[in-house]
Amino acid sequence: MSDAKKVWPTTNKAEAYWRDIAAGFMHAPDESYLNTGSWGVLHRSVFDSLVKGLEELEGNPTRNRGRQIARLNQARRDLGAFLNAAPADLALTTNVTIAINQVIHGLDWQPGDEILTSDQEYGAIDNCLHHAERRYGVVVQRAPISIPPAEPEQIVDSFRRALTTRTRLLLVSHVTSPSGLITPIKELAELAHAHGAMIVVDGAHAPGQIPLDLTYYGCDFYGGNCHKWLCAPKGTGFLHAQPPVQDKLHPIAVSHGYDKDGPKRNDAGALCINGQPFMWQLTSIGTREMSCFGAVAEAVALQNEIGKEQIAARGRQLAGYLRQRMAETGWVEPLSSPHPDLANSISTFRLKGFGAANLGQLLYDKYRITTPVWGEAEPGYTQRVSTHIYNNFGEIDRMIAALDEIRTGRD
Ligand SMILES: Cc1ncc(COP(=O)(O)O)c(C=O)c1O
Repeated sequence: MSDAKKVWPTTNKAEAYWRDIAAGFMHAPDESYLNTGSWGVLHRSVFDSLVKGLEELEGNPTRNRGRQIARLNQARRDLGAFLNAAPADLALTTNVTIAINQVIHGLDWQPGDEILTSDQEYGAIDNCLHHAERRYGVVVQRAPISIPPAEPEQIVDSFRRALTTRTRLLLVSHVTSPSGLITPIKELAELAHAHGAMIVVDGAHAPGQIPLDLTYYGCDFYGGNCHKWLCAPKGTGFLHAQPPVQDKLHPIAVSHGYDKDGPKRNDAGALCINGQPFMWQLTSIGTREMSCFGAVAEAVALQNEIGKEQIAARGRQLAGYLRQRMAETGWVEPLSSPHPDLANSISTFRLKGFGAANLGQLLYDKYRITTPVWGEAEPGYTQRVSTHIYNNFGEIDRMIAALDEIRTGRD
């Protein structure tokens, strides 16, 4: 046990608790999976729920479809409660890419309208914005964010400076992909609204990593993934839209969820299509497999059982240990913010003094450690490490030892 490990505030009892939790997940026990930032690992209970749904359907794909839909509706209710959002305002989507495309291509645009985003957005989402520029003549402005920023206010200030009279929409990641930076979306929503603009949040990494309260944030649109930190089946995500802005969304693909006379208001004033909440119609575009959505309920149940605050705290604890140990090596430049509000379970580093090794591949081939590494030897490779509830201190020690071996040529 290293000295750093000894002084780290954990107990044998706590580690035994997390070991038990980890044992229920399906990753190979002899590997270190430190890449929940790309995809989470399924818990056996979620996998079983998925398989049960698939089996249930195949007994009679026609008659049993109703049971699939009932499971999906249950999952939407559970997810809504988990996110503090009304289920009626949630569309289940295949992923956050679809959710954001639904907003960007679902809104009406005038040439010259501006979308204000940051320079830290995920590549596929940035492509979506680029396409909108080409197709609708909108102008995309990118507020620069220094990595790491010192304070959340720096991010808000950068967006404020880039606003113009033509800004109609802000788009920002809640947790950014390259460095795991947490952005102050409540303050950015207030900024957008004070300016008469809307805001859409790319919440790819947030659900299941940090506790979320979509009502409190007040963002117009919030897209999220369930297949990263929530550890739900791959191909599960959602789009949440506040009731006042739902009627601004055109469907990006038209299917049964369409009324030739247009959406209507029910007695309570809620927007509906064919008697169902407007947002639900964005989920079913033709036929698709639905068991994966049903299994989201099981993933949410597991999070509720452990507790979202406790999950976030565990990820942060492991990340804190990782950052401390990496700093002690002397060959690492931290890219994650030390500010407690600006980072949680994703840690990113610039690795100094490594040769031309294909580091990510080497870490896996020789040490069975999975973390993404990109960039060049100069100015240094960038490594992103995700610490989730199935990870532990020992894996971090092993990863640093492996990097040290590679760096000194002992591998
Ligand atoms: C910030 C961010 N946005 C969007 C995505 C896209 O996620 P998906 O491919 O599940 O739609 C990712 C994936 O890593 C991401 O990190």
